Amino acid sequence: MNNKFKNITYVTVFYTVICLIGCSNIASTSIASNDTSVSDTLYSHFKELFHVGAAINEETILGYDSQSEKIVTTEFNSITPENSLKWMFIQPKPNEFNFSVADKYVQLGLDNNMHIVGHALVWHSQLADFMQDIQNSAEMNAHVQNHVNTVVSRYKGKINAWDVVNEAFNEDGSLRESVFYNQMGEDYIDQVFRWAAKADPDADLIYNDYNVYKPLKRAGILRLVEKLKSNGTKISGVGVQAHWDLNSPSLKEIEQIILDIASVGVPVSFTELDISVLPSPWEMVGAEVSQNFSIFEGDPKMNPYPNGLPDVIQNQLAKRYEDIFKLFVKHKDKISRVTFWGVMDKHSWLNDWPIKGRTNYPLLFDRNYQPKKAYQTVLDLSTTD
Ligand code: XIL
Repeated sequence: MNNKFKNITYVTVFYTVICLIGCSNIASTSIASNDTSVSDTLYSHFKELFHVGAAINEETILGYDSQSEKIVTTEFNSITPENSLKWMFIQPKPNEFNFSVADKYVQLGLDNNMHIVGHALVWHSQLADFMQDIQNSAEMNAHVQNHVNTVVSRYKGKINAWDVVNEAFNEDGSLRESVFYNQMGEDYIDQVFRWAAKADPDADLIYNDYNVYKPLKRAGILRLVEKLKSNGTKISGVGVQAHWDLNSPSLKEIEQIILDIASVGVPVSFTELDISVLPSPWEMVGAEVSQNFSIFEGDPKMNPYPNGLPDVIQNQLAKRYEDIFKLFVKHKDKISRVTFWGVMDKHSWLNDWPIKGRTNYPLLFDRNYQPKKAYQTVLDLSTTD
């Protein structure tokens, strides 16, 4: 990470300029007013504890968004491709691979001496269409093996950690009946981890999922970790997506995630952290959970802050991030990485999911690439508990 130190001067200039031109939204926590924090950046602040990363989009990878790239290379020491390594983009047709964006992604990480994450090898979403139509288990096995082997081998020694299997569990802890499960059988996860380990024995291999705070789902994931370990299959950690909101999950629930995963002998990575400040459609529809929330599109009740985040919510967001990072510091020995799902609010997927066309504020940098109050509260945290 030595390259990073070269950037400290840039960071100083960067924030000095930002504050000179007036960053009104962080006026109450002005970075310029505190000389000791000027050279502090997210990754350097937590450097001795865990990696701090961001998911980056294609514009950033291709160099079309220099402001985003600047933040990524000064504030973070790990990157994840938001979409560019997903199956539908990497292998859209049988055995037709397209690595052009992925190669640039990996090169960006190498050039900046970053911890590089691969996301995601086997996932039922954003899968190539041809994979959905396969009705034969030998054919399914062959395609999955070929995909895992081809992609992992290509970046052997470069990609440091892979989300090997993503979202394989139902909420009750049973295995999701994905095309992989249906064609390859219930041991498919073990098999996929073995193929990945063979292709790059040194890469960290992670199982990644959402709603890990829910006890039944977590129990399923923990059973998987124990099973793989007892089979002698390499698994290096559990990835907790961490698409959370201002109130849920509770700090107690988050702490339980960390303790339970550590209890099966693997570290936790928070792989997709963002905090939605908008109303949840799941609460609005009660028990009738539907994935189609288009009924709420354009509903002002569901999009209360289209013109800016009121201070009171900005403060709540800052406090929420502060509380969460306090927990991360407390359990630093059990956590290997904290990655934000995006760089700045404007490009967050949460503007369009689960309801299209909203204005959300889930990250540490605002729509103008300026650090928010939450950024400063996180940086002000002591890193010794
Ligand atoms: C999301 C991306 O952010 C969006 O741009 C894309 O349209 C859909 O996927 N869990 C994951 C991520 O593992 O890959 C998802 O990323 C968000 C949920």
